[in-house]
Amino acid sequence: MNNFVFENTTKVYFGKGCVGEYLGCLLKNYGDTVMLAYGGGSIKRNGIYDEVNSILTAAGKTVVEFSGIMSNPTYAKVQEGARLARENHVDLILAVGGGSVSDCCKIVSAQAKLDKDIWELQTAKHIFPTEFIPLSTIVTVFGTGSEMNNGAVITHEEKKIKGALFGAQADFAFLDPMYSMSVPFPQVISGAFDTLSHAMETYFGKPEENNLSDDLGEAVMRSVIRNIRVLLTDHDNYDARSELAWASAMAENGILKIGKITDFQAHQMEHQLGAYTNCSHGAGLAVIHPPLYRHIYKDGVERFARFARNVWGIEPKKTAEETALAGVEALTGFICEIGLPTTFTELGIPADTDFRAIADSTNLTAGCCKKLTHEEIYEIFQECI
Ligand code: NZQ
Ligand code: ZN
Repeated sequence: MNNFVFENTTKVYFGKGCVGEYLGCLLKNYGDTVMLAYGGGSIKRNGIYDEVNSILTAAGKTVVEFSGIMSNPTYAKVQEGARLARENHVDLILAVGGGSVSDCCKIVSAQAKLDKDIWELQTAKHIFPTEFIPLSTIVTVFGTGSEMNNGAVITHEEKKIKGALFGAQADFAFLDPMYSMSVPFPQVISGAFDTLSHAMETYFGKPEENNLSDDLGEAVMRSVIRNIRVLLTDHDNYDARSELAWASAMAENGILKIGKITDFQAHQMEHQLGAYTNCSHGAGLAVIHPPLYRHIYKDGVERFARFARNVWGIEPKKTAEETALAGVEALTGFICEIGLPTTFTELGIPADTDFRAIADSTNLTAGCCKKLTHEEIYEIFQECI
């Protein structure tokens, strides 16, 4: 095991009814003004808005609403939220939604405390924020695991970059699997695939030797696969939804990454694809993973063969290379089985999209068995059409 330092400061409240049980009490630790941040309105239709609002009112809070946070949140939206938070002297930001609302609020929380432009500070000067408006998250759709880390993925529309920024880590997060019951089913599956992707991108990082993080990663992957399959025939199965909710946090709360250099090349590709097409994150990953892995597995045969055996239960074939490829094909079959797209065309991305520009602006990672070139990324994008 490599040396590491590990801390995760988010306190998690998990399970049916956790918001009603604990939020009111937690609010006592913060000032009077709470920013209630949410997306396009699903929380108004499913009752979560009313529930949270009544808890805030009962606690005597002044509520400042920050609504309309879009999927793949933009930098302009972050700036809007930061202005609102500053003008109203917000004491706590309550992010109610999925990864998009959570990510946007992490950066709002930091930008509101800064005079300078946080994008420029982080990307050009590598200066990271140290002061934040306290943040709390109520997760309403699971998959990104954003609730237990300080990373945010923000789309800078003018620069045509969907990139990572670092902001606030939530003080506390509520994960009530019941809140996900109103999520359209394809979105549930796409979120769960995002979790699987996070675990894979960590597992295929370095080092490849024996370590506990990889053993845990395999368990998370098997659990996600098993529970997605349960949901396919029983959409509202609480047990499976709750397992997927916790797997989502587990895959991105740092535990699987302990002692590892992660890869996240598929994510880098999907993020740039998102910057140009605004596609759904999990569905975009589903298209990219198999062609990417077909492209690299020969450089990491042992690891891919282990993935085949331990995650997909494949009996060893004549050669490790055959076993490795069988694992990639099992992943491909699973993506079809769970109804996610396998091509950009199915995802609704036209073939005349500027894949050259997307490939050239994709970050190259060094975490996996093969470091790709922009040309190879372009080839993989071509194979995705
Ligand atoms: O906006 P509303 O109306 O709320 O609708 C949302 C949205 O359309 C809907 N939804 C959420 N909860 C619902 C619901 N609909 C009905 N009932 C509910 N209970 O779901 C749609 C998708 O929401 P969104 O937050 O965009 O999805 P997701 O959680 O997948 O987040 C995607 C964003 O997270 C980033 C992605 O890149 C993308 O921008 N990621 C963040 C990560 C992180 N910070 O750790 C890691 C990930 O790899 C990912 O990159
Ligand atoms: Zn992801």
